[in-house]
Amino acid sequence: MLKKIIDWIDERVKIREVIENNLTGYMVPANLNFWYSMGAVLLAMLFIQFVTGILLLIYYVPHVDKAFGSVTYITNEVPFGWLIRRVHAMAANIFIAVLFLHMFSTLFMGSYKKPRELQWMSGCVLFALGLLAALSGYLLPWSQLSYWATTVATNTVSAFPFIGNELVRWIRGAERVEQATLGRFFALHVIVVPLLFLGLVAAHLFFIRRTGISSPPGTRKEELKKVPFVPHFALEDLKVIYFFVGFLFIFVFFYPRLYFPPDALKPADPFFTPPHIKPEWYFLANYETLKLIPSKFLGVFIQLAVALFLFLLPLVDTGSERYPLKRPFFLTFAILGVLAFLALTILGEIL
Ligand code: HEM
Repeated sequence: MLKKIIDWIDERVKIREVIENNLTGYMVPANLNFWYSMGAVLLAMLFIQFVTGILLLIYYVPHVDKAFGSVTYITNEVPFGWLIRRVHAMAANIFIAVLFLHMFSTLFMGSYKKPRELQWMSGCVLFALGLLAALSGYLLPWSQLSYWATTVATNTVSAFPFIGNELVRWIRGAERVEQATLGRFFALHVIVVPLLFLGLVAAHLFFIRRTGISSPPGTRKEELKKVPFVPHFALEDLKVIYFFVGFLFIFVFFYPRLYFPPDALKPADPFFTPPHIKPEWYFLANYETLKLIPSKFLGVFIQLAVALFLFLLPLVDTGSERYPLKRPFFLTFAILGVLAFLALTILGEIL
């Protein structure tokens, strides 16, 4: 029966040729390592976010008087609502963590170099989009935590010279975080960001397909063996995806408090600021930078300069050598960068 359906489609649009060209006949280097599966893990996490997000939308109400009640209803009343909500919240964190791993691994393996500059640049925009998805989603439960963390996060934009305060008002749609903010963050989170994700991921994959996946740095010519993507590398990808999904469920079942601390269980109260309000872990380095540098303007300027430098890196670092140990200047600089990022994140957490 299935064969008949496939034959019928094949007779019209040559579906077997598409499968052959993109899966079973798509050749990739035989010696790809674990880090090359991070992209597939990101695709899997995105898929989980789309499915759980759509399910949450069935009951969620984007109104300041109803939002908190609706997520509480999902958690306590809707069958398996608690599971869907926890998976969505935890997978968002794992997605961001894997974005960092994917970015660092392609950075250290020099995969951003010619001819893969566009993969890197589209990746940088995807990274920013991942952060926007997390920021916009965080407000939606309208809890004390989400309300105040969003107030703090949107406030940092006021550090922009001249237009800072106007910019904060524009992002919030009002003086303070209120219904106008919830409405626009909701539209961003459920429509704008997912559509941009679809378009940009398609572009990212298209670029990868056109140049082919790189061989790990240091591969000698005589070792350059290729294998079909399906089944060889696809099975490797699947193994790593299982590992990360297992990790996700460890958090979902055993550490739910990590994402739902007490302030996440109280409705937003604009008249009571809880003590120690902090942004999520992935914004701590930015937050700490702004705190440590006395001039707000300089703090924002440095961060924008670092982001722009990273985006343009393939156009700056044009040498063809990809093996990290043969690029001592790059390696020192990159390790110091990662250490500074980790130190700022830890300081942000403990100070
Ligand atoms: C939604 C987010 C993303 C998805 C779904 C995604 C997906 C993928 C996939 C499936 C691959 C091919 C296999 C692999 O090397 O892992 C890949 C490669 C690549 N990605 Fe991403 N990626 C994302 C974000 C990023 C980010 C944030 C960066 C860096 C700024 C980036 C840079 C690259 C580069 C340079 C390659 C080429 C690797 C090579 O051929 O060696 N990607 N990505």
